[in-house]
Amino acid sequence: MLPPAGEQAETEGMDIPSRTVFIAGATTGIGLELARRFAAAGSTVIAGGRRTGLLGKIADEGLATAVIDVTDQASIDRARDTILPSHPGLDTIITMSGIGIPEDLRDPAHFSAAEQTIDTNLLGTIRVIDAFTPHLIGRGAGTIITVTSGIGFLPFPVMPTYAASKAAVHAYSEALRAQLDGTGIDVSELIPPAVALTPEAKQRNPHALDLADFGAEVMDLLATGPTPHEILVKGVLMHRWAERDGTYHELVAQRSQALAMLPSRR
Ligand SMILES: NC(=O)c1ccc[n+]([C@@H]2O[C@H](COP(=O)([O-])OP(=O)(O)OC[C@H]3O[C@@H](n4cnc5c(N)ncnc54)[C@H](OP(=O)(O)O)[C@@H]3O)[C@@H](O)[C@H]2O)c1
Repeated sequence: MLPPAGEQAETEGMDIPSRTVFIAGATTGIGLELARRFAAAGSTVIAGGRRTGLLGKIADEGLATAVIDVTDQASIDRARDTILPSHPGLDTIITMSGIGIPEDLRDPAHFSAAEQTIDTNLLGTIRVIDAFTPHLIGRGAGTIITVTSGIGFLPFPVMPTYAASKAAVHAYSEALRAQLDGTGIDVSELIPPAVALTPEAKQRNPHALDLADFGAEVMDLLATGPTPHEILVKGVLMHRWAERDGTYHELVAQRSQALAMLPSRR
């Protein structure tokens, strides 16, 4: 049970063992990693996503699941109308669903990638939050965790709309927190750096964090409170604070070298 709004001591972290958490975008990657960690710590977890085969395997692990496509309002409404009656104590929403597509801005054909990215990463986040906020307000307590990226603060020019979508979700999260002030709902923004989901991804980018290490650090940050406005593992600090630290232009120039990987530039 969550304490009534405002009663949780400022120094306390999230009461992870007693949460009921819906993670939209938990069929793979960071979402699945956090779903398993919340469940292992004692939370009730509902893992969401489009791929029903993966959801079936997750259900076999003992987690609840919900089919959801965050680009489809009817699908989100169905997911909410399935989840809330079976989990009336739902108190935590994590908007993890996201896609990142390389785009060559010299080729107008990139526009469909831009549309898909905004539809999933930005509008998908807004749709899911809108679907569950009335329930959380009704409870008078809860947590919304949005998911951005170090790239939202330090662009990776290979994925321009991805960076824009994550910067937008950052700004949206700030406004959401201000608008929900006094309702008992915390808004926290998870800002991952590069996280390698597979050994092959680690080979391609040796600087990327291992998924398990990232997951453990995030759970530690949530457990030792108060629940932060921004969930910042150590590996993302150089991205998050590049502008303040005066390293921004140098780092963007470094990251621009990766533009050579776009097929049209090879
Ligand atoms: N890995 C990194 O380096 C990194 C760094 C910074 C930020 N992030 C962010 O972390 C989040 C998770 O990414 P990941 O790296 O773990 O990638 P991932 O393994 O590809 O996971 C993406 C998740 O989003 C779901 N998803 C995508 N489109 C969806 C849609 N239309 N409706 C519902 N769910 C959808 C996918 O499920 P289905 O396909 O089954 O629907 C999947 O569960 C993303 O928001 C990403 O931008 C990742």
